[in-house]
Amino acid sequence: MIPWAKPDFHGYEEKFLKEALKSTWISDGSFIRKLEKNFSNYLKTKESIAVSNGTSAIHLIYLTLGLKRGDEIIVPGYGYMAASNLALQMGLKPIFADVDLETFCVTADSIKKKISKKTKLIVITHTYGNVCEVKPIIKLSKKIKIPVLEDSAESFGSRFSNKQSGTFGDFATFSFQATKTITTGEGGMVVTKKNKNFIKKARSLRTHGVLKKRYLHIYPGHNFRLTNLQAAIGCAQLKRFDKIKKERQRIFNMYKHLFKNLKGVKIQKFDKKVSPVVWTFALVIDEKIFPKRDNMIRLLFKKGIETRNGFYSPCRMKLYKKSNTSHLKNSNYLSKKIICLPFYTSLKNNQIIKIFNEIKKLRVI
Ligand SMILES: Cc1ncc(COP(=O)(O)O)c(C=O)c1O
Repeated sequence: MIPWAKPDFHGYEEKFLKEALKSTWISDGSFIRKLEKNFSNYLKTKESIAVSNGTSAIHLIYLTLGLKRGDEIIVPGYGYMAASNLALQMGLKPIFADVDLETFCVTADSIKKKISKKTKLIVITHTYGNVCEVKPIIKLSKKIKIPVLEDSAESFGSRFSNKQSGTFGDFATFSFQATKTITTGEGGMVVTKKNKNFIKKARSLRTHGVLKKRYLHIYPGHNFRLTNLQAAIGCAQLKRFDKIKKERQRIFNMYKHLFKNLKGVKIQKFDKKVSPVVWTFALVIDEKIFPKRDNMIRLLFKKGIETRNGFYSPCRMKLYKKSNTSHLKNSNYLSKKIICLPFYTSLKNNQIIKIFNEIKKLRVI
């Protein structure tokens, strides 16, 4: 079976993990500080705050901003729904902006249409390792004085004009869940350029609203902490990230080369200025030439290839029936047509060729 994803633990993971265990510091510990420092250095950004997962990273930003019931936040109509789910959970109003049919990302134009007096935050998601058109989005955000959160869970290492994804907006979040480009099992990171007070509040909210004095709670916080054991794995992953990146680029180039001229599939488009570290290889299926997307997934599974459907758009979820989703034409279309192919560093070239050939054989005309 060719799985859809597989972590890459070929470096110092075991060594660092043993060190963390031996130190007996298994909750807090020095690997956390090291991971935060190395992460900031890698991205060339000011501050990184390690958290328990990519969802708590977003949650931490919402809480630190003090978003309140009824506040509106703009979120993408296509992508992983963490930012919008959290908004519902906190009584905020997710306002969906449609995505571009080719890049699968929101644009400054689609965001602009959704701005209102109640908008407090713009969330942009760099889906599948792409980077949104950050320049016009940041320009718009500055003009209307509404901050931007980059959800970079799927785009660690991707760059736009040689600048890392996650360093354009006021804040960014990353996920280290098992399928992600670098992983700690579960885990995440908040990155921000905001001032000391914001950072202090975020760090405090991460650990039950405590600032300096143990058990003295200043805010009603959470436990969003990453463990020292997870951070040890994270340090090892980051240390060999150049190798991980190289393998991911090999796979991306190989897929691109094979699929670019195949009739009936469209490849995700990346701007010339984007140097992606792709999370998964996504194809938009033409169901006149191929079987229905979900059928394709089943047929490929029978051939020993695990693939995944694209994200559900909010138009197709009861959870979002109160939200305005009728304008999400592109998001809705993509949600029905995208198939994501296996993507992990140890995926061999001959396996990629097998995936290509099995897909080719599924053509109905
Ligand atoms: C774009 C995006 N945002 C947020 C998340 C949530 O991250 P986590 O699963 O670490 O909570 C994920 C992935 O799982 C994601 O792909």
